Amino acid sequence: MKIVLLIGLSVVCCWTQTVAAETMVERGRYIVEVIGACGNCHTPQGPGGPDESRHLAGGNPIEEPGMVAIPRNITPDMETGIGAWTDAQIITAIREGVRPDGRVLGPPMPFGMYRQISDRDVAAIVAYLRMVKPVNNQPEPSSYDFPLPESWGPPVDQVPEPDRTDEVAYGAYLAGPLGHCIECHSTPDAHGFPDLENALGAGGMLFHGPWGVSAATNLTPTGLSGKSDAEIKQIITTGMRADGSRLRPPMGFSYYAHLTDGDLDAIVAYLRSLPPR
Ligand code: HEC
Ligand code: HEC
Repeated sequence: MKIVLLIGLSVVCCWTQTVAAETMVERGRYIVEVIGACGNCHTPQGPGGPDESRHLAGGNPIEEPGMVAIPRNITPDMETGIGAWTDAQIITAIREGVRPDGRVLGPPMPFGMYRQISDRDVAAIVAYLRMVKPVNNQPEPSSYDFPLPESWGPPVDQVPEPDRTDEVAYGAYLAGPLGHCIECHSTPDAHGFPDLENALGAGGMLFHGPWGVSAATNLTPTGLSGKSDAEIKQIITTGMRADGSRLRPPMGFSYYAHLTDGDLDAIVAYLRSLPPR
């Protein structure tokens, strides 16, 4: 009788722990602050790294040929952030790239990938953003020398939860919709957009900044052939290769440092499953 009761209690205890780790705010925090690395664009960089006093309050200008994109203030400040937006409006901005006033948002926010964030995960992002400290800050508008598309695709209706028991499929979801690794790491097509059909994971996108120019590497088995799973995971979470060389920006290592072991395993399993390029 006592033993049964104890087993019963421990089951309840572990079950509550699992559920507790999955509250919407916690899930949202993990997406925004870890795999999604939203702050890598939306938090301004100071000389010593991200300026946490202005966490998510609008990032440094991103200058690429033909554009100066200025990440917006996504704190819940009522005047300059997204505090006055409804949940549905925030979700539409994230997944469809359309603001409440109807204006289409421009790159490099990865709308093509964010369209596939599940309904639950995008609701979790909103739940977490509402909890962030509001910061009053109005970034300058972005400017694009090319016409933005009329839309980034048809309206997003429903996106089901990914199957977390299928490691490769969940790795694809982490490296795609949530982490957009694969967007930076696919070869650009003639228009400069990553060619996810013919060159998925093959590398070659260029990133300009104070560091000069960095080129995203080939993450297909051809590119990663000489690297063990442990080295790949170390690179993702520290930006340091086994030979001691450091990766240049803009990859968000300081965010990825907090990835769970299970998620890192899933990402590596997915990269190993890509067609070699
Ligand atoms: C690669 C850089 C980048 C990343 C990563 C990124 N964003 Fe953005 N985001 C931008 C830029 C740039 C804009 C503004 C585009 C424009 O001005 O047209 C923007 C705009 C937005 C807007 C619209 C706000 C407004 O006032 O118009 C929201 C909401 C947003 N981002 C949320 C997020 C969230 C949540 C994440 C992480 C899941 C994220 N972003 C990741 C660059 C990024
Ligand atoms: C904003 C663009 C960007 C994003 C997002 C990004 N990367 Fe990278 N990544 C780069 C660049 C650029 C380099 C090369 C840096 C250098 O050579 O100094 C790189 C290098 C790497 C390397 C080193 C490979 C080698 O051969 O040394 C690995 C592994 C890697 N990225 C994996 C990932 C994974 C996994 C994710 C998602 C969790 C990711 N990257 C997200 C831009 C990005």
